[in-house]
Amino acid sequence: MMQGVPQPAFYIFKCQQSAPPGMPKPSCVSQNDPESQQLFQHLAQQLMMKGIIGTVQPIQTGCLNRCQQGPVMLVEPGHTMYVGLTKEKIDRIIDEHIIGGNVVEEYVIPDEFWGEPIPPSQMAR
Ligand code: FES
Repeated sequence: MMQGVPQPAFYIFKCQQSAPPGMPKPSCVSQNDPESQQLFQHLAQQLMMKGIIGTVQPIQTGCLNRCQQGPVMLVEPGHTMYVGLTKEKIDRIIDEHIIGGNVVEEYVIPDEFWGEPIPPSQMAR
């Protein structure tokens, strides 16, 4: 087999959406919550410190539609949605899921907010 550039083992999509000041709408990055503003940088720094930043690619993204459970991030492959994030939780997710291979179930979105997907083939007009 040809030895080319390896694809990433994981993409981590971190929601970076912030509501404008004074807006009651929940968001993953909040003016009133300094830690929420530091989570992406923390994620990237930890991946760098552990030497896995190339094979694990952190991506800043817009709203992932689970704002009530924020801050959230989605790990692919696996379609694992982590909610209510803090720096400590991110550290555990990196060690146990990304490096260790075991999803950190306590931090995964509850099933009632993450039901089975509807196949686009069923919905397409
Ligand atoms: S603002 Fe992050 S999921 Fe909507």
